[in-house]
Formats: sequence, C-alpha cells, structure tokens
Amino acid sequence: MIEKIAIALCITIVTSITLNLNEICQCSQLIQEYDCINSSMECSWNFQSKECQDIPCSEILFSSFCIQQSQRCYWANGQCQNFTNCQSLLGSTQSICINQNIYCPASNGTNCQSVDYLQTCASITTSNNCNYYFSAAGVCMWNGQSCVQATSCSQFQGNSTTSCNFSGCQLNYQTKQCQPKLCSQLNGEIQCSQGILTFGPYLNNIIGCYWNYESYTCEEFYPSQMNYMNCYGSSAGTYHWNSKKEKKGDCVSCYQQFLILSIIITMLF
Ligand SMILES: *[C@@H]1O[C@H](CO)[C@@H](O)[C@H](O)[C@H]1NC(C)=O
Ligand SMILES: *[C@@H]1O[C@H](CO)[C@@H](O)[C@H](O)[C@H]1NC(C)=O
Ligand SMILES: *[C@@H]1O[C@H](CO)[C@@H](O)[C@H](O)[C@H]1NC(C)=O
Ligand SMILES: *[C@@H]1O[C@H](CO)[C@@H](O)[C@H](O)[C@H]1NC(C)=O
Ligand SMILES: *[C@@H]1O[C@H](CO)[C@@H](O)[C@H](O)[C@H]1NC(C)=O
Repeated sequence: MIEKIAIALCITIVTSITLNLNEICQCSQLIQEYDCINSSMECSWNFQSKECQDIPCSEILFSSFCIQQSQRCYWANGQCQNFTNCQSLLGSTQSICINQNIYCPASNGTNCQSVDYLQTCASITTSNNCNYYFSAAGVCMWNGQSCVQATSCSQFQGNSTTSCNFSGCQLNYQTKQCQPKLCSQLNGEIQCSQGILTFGPYLNNIIGCYWNYESYTCEEFYPSQMNYMNCYGSSAGTYHWNSKKEKKGDCVSCYQQFLILSIIITMLF
C-alpha cells in the first residue's frame, strides 16, 4: 500500500518587500524625533510637546511632498492645497492626475478620479493608451494584439514595446536579457533613496533602497536591518522607528502588516 504522507513545512524566506504608499505614516505616528525631522517637508517636530505635527498643506513647497500626503493635500495651480476630492482636479490623462495627487490616478477625460475608476489593462484597446498605464492591478503593456498586465521584465523585450524600457528593469549587457533592477545597481545616494518600481498593484509597487555609508553601496530595505536613521527615509515613509530612543526600538510598518511570506510545501512520499 502506498502511503501518502503530506508534510507541510512552513518556511520563511527573505523576500523583497514592496512598499505600499497607501500605508504612508501619518505625522502623528512619527514618535522618533529623527523620523519627524527627516520628513521635514511634510511634518514638523514640536520641541515643546515632543510631538510630530502636520505641516499645513499651504506651507508644503515641493510638489513631490505635497502629492504623497494621502488625502490631506494636492498640488494644483503650482501650490499645495487642502484636498477636497479627486473630481475637483482638472486632468485629461493619468499622468496629469498623478502629478496632482497620487491617490487620484484616473481621469474621465476632463477631471481626475480616485483609484476606483482606474481602467483594467484588458479594457484598453490601443497601444498608446496601454503602454505604461497603471491599472489598479499593475502596469499595462501592449503585447502586439492586446493590452495585458505586465508581470516580468522579460515581457518588455518583445517587439511592440521598446526593449526593456520600464524603470524597474535593466538590460543586462552580457546576457542581453531584460531583468529586474536591483538596489545594488543604483548609482549614488540620491538615485538609491528613490527605490525601484516593480510590477505590484498601483501604489504597492516600490522596493525600498538605502545608502550604506560604510560600503558606499545601495542596498535593499529590510526592516530588521534598519536603524533609526534610515528606517523612515528608505521606506518611502511607510515604516517608522517605534521608540523615542535612538539605540532601542525597531523599524516597523505604520500599518503593522505581516511582512514575512510563508510558503507551505507539501511533500508527497
Ligand atoms: C531622510 O533620510 C534619508 C535616508 O536616511 C536621506 O536620504 C534624506 O535626505 C533624509 N531627508 C531629509 C529631508 O532629511
Ligand atoms: C486647510 O486645512 C487646515 C486643516 O484642516 C485648515 O486649518 C485650513 O484653514 C484649511 N485651509 C483652507 C485654505 O481651507
Ligand atoms: C468628468 O467628471 C466631472 C466631475 O464629476 C464632470 O463634471 C464631467 O462632466 C465629467 N466629464 C465627462 C467627459 O464625463
Ligand atoms: C517578435 O516577432 C517575431 C516575428 O513577428 C515573433 O516570432 C517573436 O515571437 C516575437 N517576439 C516576442 C518576444 O514577442
Ligand atoms: C520609455 O517609456 C516612457 C514611459 O515610461 C516613454 O515616455 C518613453 O517614450 C519610452 N521611450 C522609448 C524610447 O520608447
């Protein structure tokens, strides 16, 4: 008699964490002074109360900081203004809308709309509208016949999109393969701090990178390896240092999700 024994192994593996911009820390969550000061464009540290507070939208001077303020602010007419709703923003294309508020990425042709109104890749019928469009599920690409959701860099080596022209991918000049870009391939501190775009759902598609000042290399963000100085900055503002003390504490998600991917392998004998 053949016995089937199923053994379930729960293996935790170190895997890339995609940062979710829907889970950006609120100023009030930044209890560590360094984090609050690090986000100086969005929050301000009150030295009396030792609390981190929202900077009023009207005092945020850079669009890149303004448009990541969740539903608090948006960028219109060259100013950071209080957010009311996506529909009150004028925008005929996705990129015009995203550049006013990343949480308003859709357009009805004249006005911007929330994430709920994003088209699916499959519903797009022309290559121009398809290529690099962010659907809710991920970035779209034209495969020659139809608009599909891109899931790997190798797809960008086809005939109908320019070879390897996606910011999260890089052409390997030896193998001529279009491969995922790695933090270690980013040159310099500024490029490194921006992280890498991947194929995840819209706003949940960034791999964080941080600059290692000892080795002068760019490395991938893993919460357990971070310290109070690089936790918040290299996580696109989605993780924070959970202690007022610099030497004690951990780098944790502002939304405390599970970060470890568990895989169950069933072995049959
Ligand atoms: C925040 O920290 C990151 C990484 O440590 C650094 O690159 C960035 O310049 C800091 N930003 C500010 C505004 O201090
Ligand atoms: C923007 O919002 C802040 C905080 O809710 C409020 O104090 C301020 O008056 C608002 N500004 C305008 C121009 O509505
Ligand atoms: C787009 O939405 C705005 C605001 O809801 C509305 O006034 C406008 O008529 C809509 N435009 C089209 C083309 O549907
Ligand atoms: C590119 O086009 C050629 C001929 O039209 C086809 O045989 C090949 O499979 C295509 N390659 C990809 C990656 O789509
Ligand atoms: C590469 O992609 C960008 C959009 O991400 C597009 O604007 C640009 O035209 C593309 N470059 C080429 C050479 O196709």
